[in-house]
Amino acid sequence: MEKKVFERPTITKLTPGMPSKHGSGAAIAPIRYIEGLKIDDLLEKYGSPLYIFSESVIRKNIEDLKRSFTVRYPKVQIAWSYKTNYLDAICRIFHQEGSWAEVVSGFEYDKARRNGIPGEHIIFNGPGKTEAELLKAAKEGAYIHIDHFDELFLLAKVCQANNVTARVAIRVNMDVGIYPKWDRFGFNYENGEAWDAINRIMANPQFKFMGLHTHIGTYIMTAEAYRIAASKLSELAAAVAQKFNHYIAYIDMGGGFASRNTLRGAYLSGEDTTPSFDEYADAITSAIINSQIKPDKLPAIILETGRALIDDAGSIAGTVIATKRLTDGRRALIVDVGVNLLFTSFWYDHKINPTQAHSGLVEETVIYGPLCMNIDVIRPSLMFPPLKVGEHFVISRTGAYNNTQWLQFITTRPNVILIDTNRQTHVIRNAETIDSIVSNEQIPDHLK
Ligand SMILES: Cc1ncc(COP(=O)(O)O)c(C=O)c1O
Repeated sequence: MEKKVFERPTITKLTPGMPSKHGSGAAIAPIRYIEGLKIDDLLEKYGSPLYIFSESVIRKNIEDLKRSFTVRYPKVQIAWSYKTNYLDAICRIFHQEGSWAEVVSGFEYDKARRNGIPGEHIIFNGPGKTEAELLKAAKEGAYIHIDHFDELFLLAKVCQANNVTARVAIRVNMDVGIYPKWDRFGFNYENGEAWDAINRIMANPQFKFMGLHTHIGTYIMTAEAYRIAASKLSELAAAVAQKFNHYIAYIDMGGGFASRNTLRGAYLSGEDTTPSFDEYADAITSAIINSQIKPDKLPAIILETGRALIDDAGSIAGTVIATKRLTDGRRALIVDVGVNLLFTSFWYDHKINPTQAHSGLVEETVIYGPLCMNIDVIRPSLMFPPLKVGEHFVISRTGAYNNTQWLQFITTRPNVILIDTNRQTHVIRNAETIDSIVSNEQIPDHLK
């Protein structure tokens, strides 16, 4: 028999949709309602595009996270990660549910204070705290999470000069089996830096050593990484107890739980791959409970979960501005949601659905935003029905980071609304106007 020529195998993604030997394209189910309210009506009333948040989804997510941890561990505290979404109304829902605030700048700190959070319920993270911010946080009894030695020495100087004591913790980075390692924040565990920082803190009578913190990364798809992190922090806590007879008040596991969004280019959908809160809770609590820390001295667990709590509570609805054919034959839509409003489209293949039923041919489509910029691509490729100019769509799971990392760029930013638990709608951030945007600008006299 003749030997066949070797042909290198290739893996090709099969995209169901176009008519093929497998049949005709799958219809994309419309999403008509959010919390029972018709999306088309909301767009009519509040304008397009429109950010829409659901209060009941936020409350349910917090409850789910709390339940997963509190059934496994005696002391658990959530601290809302302001950078994930610091619209005041959103933060206040978290605070009403008992969350503290986790902030990473003086601006976020002040926002938390304005939202009624006392200093002693604020976790102050971040590598760029100023002298004035450190002094204020120390005086108000916030938990200052020291990021590097220069900050440790600066805080020591601030405390000395003002005769104040500070409640402090350190951020620890470590190898948890995820690469590249996040080692730019905090003190390293493996090379002894974290232990060095702890000893210096314990030697300073103006520091009260309260806890250990880590944030191992974001969208962490394996709960096992948290088990490793929690056991390394527990080892440090046990070593502190042994050497100083000092018991820390908390271990802060940071954020990083994955939301159900699908990462760009991922083969499987986030809905199928994201670990549940129970899985994360199992890994973290069992590592701490099984450590050398005595049961009556167990520290509280603090969670700074961001995206996993808010992503699926937010959506952006919008309108088709134009349709076209690209030179390679693909269909393209230009919509009124640009990447400046949907920053997360750089990382996620967001779920996009029309708001009405469509019977036309589902085919490969590129979705562009309205910006005059080549990078303004909301989805480079998805199977989508033939929406017409003026028709609406909704992009799901957009609640995290888009209302903090958004850019006022080329266009103004639109209204943000909240649907409360009684299905009443509230504008929680007004659409920008040219006046609101230029209000911070100044014109020198010679240009008037
Ligand atoms: C220190 C810290 N905590 C919490 C978070 C929230 O992370 P996530 O949204 O991945 O849960 C972040 C985000 O970068 C962070 O830097």
